[in-house]
Amino acid sequence: MPSRTRLPPSPEDHRMNRSEPTRSISASEVTRAAAALAEHLERSGVRWVPHPRPDAVGRIVETWWGTADESAAANAEPATTERASSRGGSGQRPSGRGGSEKPEPQKGASGKGASNAGASSGRLAPVAPVLVSGEPYPGEDLEPAERRSVLASMSEEVAGCTRCPALVACRKRTVFGEGSETPRVVFFGEGPGAEEDRSGRPFVGKAGQLLTKMIEACTFRREDVYIMNTVKCRPPANRNPEPQEVANCRDYFERQLAVLRPEYIVCLGAVSAQALLQSKLSVGRLRGNLHRYFDSKVIVTYHPAYLLRTPAAKKAAWEDLQMMLRDAGIDPTCR
Ligand code: URA
Repeated sequence: MPSRTRLPPSPEDHRMNRSEPTRSISASEVTRAAAALAEHLERSGVRWVPHPRPDAVGRIVETWWGTADESAAANAEPATTERASSRGGSGQRPSGRGGSEKPEPQKGASGKGASNAGASSGRLAPVAPVLVSGEPYPGEDLEPAERRSVLASMSEEVAGCTRCPALVACRKRTVFGEGSETPRVVFFGEGPGAEEDRSGRPFVGKAGQLLTKMIEACTFRREDVYIMNTVKCRPPANRNPEPQEVANCRDYFERQLAVLRPEYIVCLGAVSAQALLQSKLSVGRLRGNLHRYFDSKVIVTYHPAYLLRTPAAKKAAWEDLQMMLRDAGIDPTCR
């Protein structure tokens, strides 16, 4: 049974002149309700919804128990993580393997774990927080060396692809993607331009130089992240890829992401955002919220090529990246 603590008297208790509250609540219920509220606010379009981080939640829970009614705590049943690890009715997933928020040992002042270690002292121990998370990526979570080798053979497969005759006829090189095989962040563009088509590398032209600056502003180096595109061949005259071309490449970018399984995917522009999120909404409508793609959190922002043409939008793009950094616990002013 989960540990429970008493709620303060509710308005109903006051109305009925009851001195004792009639309901109690467990830590996992509180955590689950908070996560569900955050998810609801996000779905409703509220921007900047803070997402619980396991370490922060652990600290708060511990502080909370510290100030809780000691008699209620002493009478409570021993804490367990059972409730926290069962799938909630609201579609939330427990922390654990495949979850982007992996369960971490709760780092309390006493160094207690997430079990009921605190129960014997009369205090309720924190339970593993239940965080809103996406479905696990399909397939196996590969070791870095295996990831490298799978990506290398996928890149060869892409180099021989002939699914889009119009693109195959014009391309010099396919552009598969590059970067860390264990990236925290994937930057997801639209499709190669002229420079990329010549070199076989993503984002090496003018837009790429701006993307590199954006990556560095986030305190990363290019080699720390992974950079890839929705379509792997240059659309002639830099036109947008046709829906059928995106559909033909979907299998490649989905498999690529299932190998990389990053914590964050930054969609650069409408083509990548709409393809990944299977949405028809504009960047203006999609940006400002964290979305989900399997275990990854998805940020949508303006494409660097658009930012070069519309410098006034750079402020908004930086806000989008800062939203990710805040969520990731990264302070861009600390390097
Ligand atoms: N624009 C993109 O979307 N991708 C690139 O690789 C280069 C420019």
